Amino acid sequence: MNKNKSEGKEKKTFTDSNELKKLTILIPVIIYELFSVIVSYCSRSDEVIMLGDNTLPISAFSGVISSFSLMCLIITVLLYKKMGYIVALVIDLIQIPPLIIGMSMSHNLRMIPGLFLNISTVLTITIIYLSQAKVEREKKRLRSLFEQTAVTLVGAIDAKDTYTHGHSSRVAEYSRKLAEMKGMSEKQCDEIYYTALLHDVGKIGVPENIINKPGKLTDEEFEYIKQHPGQGAQILEKINEYPFLSIGAHFHHERYDGRGYPEEKKGYDIPENARIISVADAYDAMTSKRSYRDPMPQEKVREQIEKGIGTQFDPEYAKLMLKLIDADKDYDMREKD
Ligand SMILES: [Fe+2]
Repeated sequence: MNKNKSEGKEKKTFTDSNELKKLTILIPVIIYELFSVIVSYCSRSDEVIMLGDNTLPISAFSGVISSFSLMCLIITVLLYKKMGYIVALVIDLIQIPPLIIGMSMSHNLRMIPGLFLNISTVLTITIIYLSQAKVEREKKRLRSLFEQTAVTLVGAIDAKDTYTHGHSSRVAEYSRKLAEMKGMSEKQCDEIYYTALLHDVGKIGVPENIINKPGKLTDEEFEYIKQHPGQGAQILEKINEYPFLSIGAHFHHERYDGRGYPEEKKGYDIPENARIISVADAYDAMTSKRSYRDPMPQEKVREQIEKGIGTQFDPEYAKLMLKLIDADKDYDMREKD
């Protein structure tokens, strides 16, 4: 119940900020209208400006101001995408009928340049909008391709590791929640999600009999396991566009007190995405089933996370995890049957 209330509140805040963002479209619209008034004044004015010995008619400025107003509409399309295009189109199109009616009624051909300007503006903003939409579609396609590749890779890790089925997906979900609670942007939360999803990709290079060994690992076997962050980083560094993936995989087993691996980094020397994944990873390990035990009781998990504040975990993210645990009254955040 409390959870729903807080989700509702968060959703409302997000919607409010979106509504506020939409309202800022009024700024270029108002500037455009101001320019239109100035253009209208300039084009009708017979006044002149004295520049030294020369005179310059004010009407000569109407072309310059018109180009500024066109720029306003282009900026509106670029910043507000579809909504900006519709607004810019409406603003421009509503000026065309009065021009045509005015010309046919008064046979005043002075309105022809204005009409041409309006038509060329419609064409310009339409071309810009369509090109922008094409780029957005391409970005979406590439993103979807990356998501499918990531899910396929995760499937390969899960298939190899029989004890940690679904581990990567759950760690990704928990990591995203922590990033959201920290107040990161949607883009940053997505980056954390995909980094966490692929954090154990290096396990592909660890022999199956070691990954799936039920008992205690020998020192030699543990040395193999310790190689998976480095191997994961090597695999992921090929994805140049997303360098954060490799960084997260490389350092997710570091500890805040410097006693982790592979580089024994300490505190804020450990990249932030790895500090988040570290907490989420440990939480999932405790709340997942193993061949020798069920998920640990929630209070025991809470105790372990609290114990790790400042030693195993970044205090800030460990405390956020404690908040998540406290909000999870029915202990839903764990591996299900
Ligand atoms: Fe790992």
